[in-house]
Amino acid sequence: RKKRTILDLQALKRKNVPITMLTAHDFPSARFVESAARLSPSSSPTSSSSAAYPRGVDICLVGDSLAMVACGYSSTSDLTLDEMLYHCRSVARGCTTSLLLADLPFGTYYASVDDGVRAAVRLVQEGKMDAVKIEGGLEIVPLVRRLSEVGIPVMAHIGLTPQRQAALSGYRVQGKTVSSALKVWHDALALQDAGAFALLVEAVPSRLAAWMTDRLKVPTIGIGAGQGASGQVLVQLDMLGVDSDLGAEGKGPRFLKRFADVGEQARRAVRDYVEEVRLGSFPSEGTHTYPMSDEAFEGFL
Ligand code: KIV
Ligand code: NA
Repeated sequence: RKKRTILDLQALKRKNVPITMLTAHDFPSARFVESAARLSPSSSPTSSSSAAYPRGVDICLVGDSLAMVACGYSSTSDLTLDEMLYHCRSVARGCTTSLLLADLPFGTYYASVDDGVRAAVRLVQEGKMDAVKIEGGLEIVPLVRRLSEVGIPVMAHIGLTPQRQAALSGYRVQGKTVSSALKVWHDALALQDAGAFALLVEAVPSRLAAWMTDRLKVPTIGIGAGQGASGQVLVQLDMLGVDSDLGAEGKGPRFLKRFADVGEQARRAVRDYVEEVRLGSFPSEGTHTYPMSDEAFEGFL
C-alpha cells in the first residue's frame, strides 16, 4: 500500500467515501493501524460495494488523548512536547502508509506564532510526522496560515477542544445554541481560509456538522459529529475496550463505540497466567522448555 496523501483525502471527500482515522500511541498500536489494510473485509453481505473502497486507515493520529489513555494523566494539559515526541517516533516506526498526524500539545503554541512553528517543526523533524493538528478557532488562524505557508499541513480541531476542558467547564457538546453554532461555523470558515487541509469536528450536533461539511471545501473528520462528516476518528484504546475502569458498561462519551473487549481478554489472560504458574501447569516440559543432551548434562555434572 502506498502512503496516503492530502490529495488522496480530497479525492475521498469528492467521491463521498468516508475517510478513516484512528489514533496510535506506541509501536504495537501503530502496527494495528498499519496492518488492518492487509486483512480481508469482514463478511458483511449488505455492503457488497465495500470491496471497491480503499482498505485500511487513511490517517494515523498520535493524539494527545494518549496523556490520559496511555500515560494515566488526568488531562491532556499534563503532556509535554518532549513526551509527545517520544510517542510520535514509536508510532512512525510502526505505521508507514497512513498519513501521520500529531497534536501540538497544550501550551506549545499559545505564547506566539513562533512557538507554534518551532513545536510543529519538532513534530515533523524529530517526531517523523507528516502533519500537525491544532485545537482552536479564530485565534489560531495566524499560526495555521504560517504553517501552511511554510509547508507543514495543519488539521484544525474545532467544536469540543479538550485542551480547554477547564475553560469549557468540562467535556461538553458544542454548537447546540445559535451563538455556539455560529462560533463553530465561523471558526471552520476562517481555518479553511487560513489553509487547513481538514477540520476535526468534535462533539457537535450531527445536523450542524453535516450542514457545515456540505458547504466546506476541505474534509471534516468527526468524533461525536455523526455520519454527515467526511470521515470519522476514534481513540484506539477506547474503541478496543481496553480501559478497565470504564468497562463495557456503556460509560464514557456517547460517541464511543467499543469494537472489541480487549480489556476483559487482557485481565483474563493475566489471571490465567498467575493460576497456571501457581498450579505448576506452566511452563510445561517439552513445549516451553529447551532440551539438553544426556551427554552434555552428564559432562557438566
Ligand atoms: O487526542 C485525540 O485522540 C484526539 C481525538 C479527537 C481523536 O484529538
Ligand atoms: Na487531541
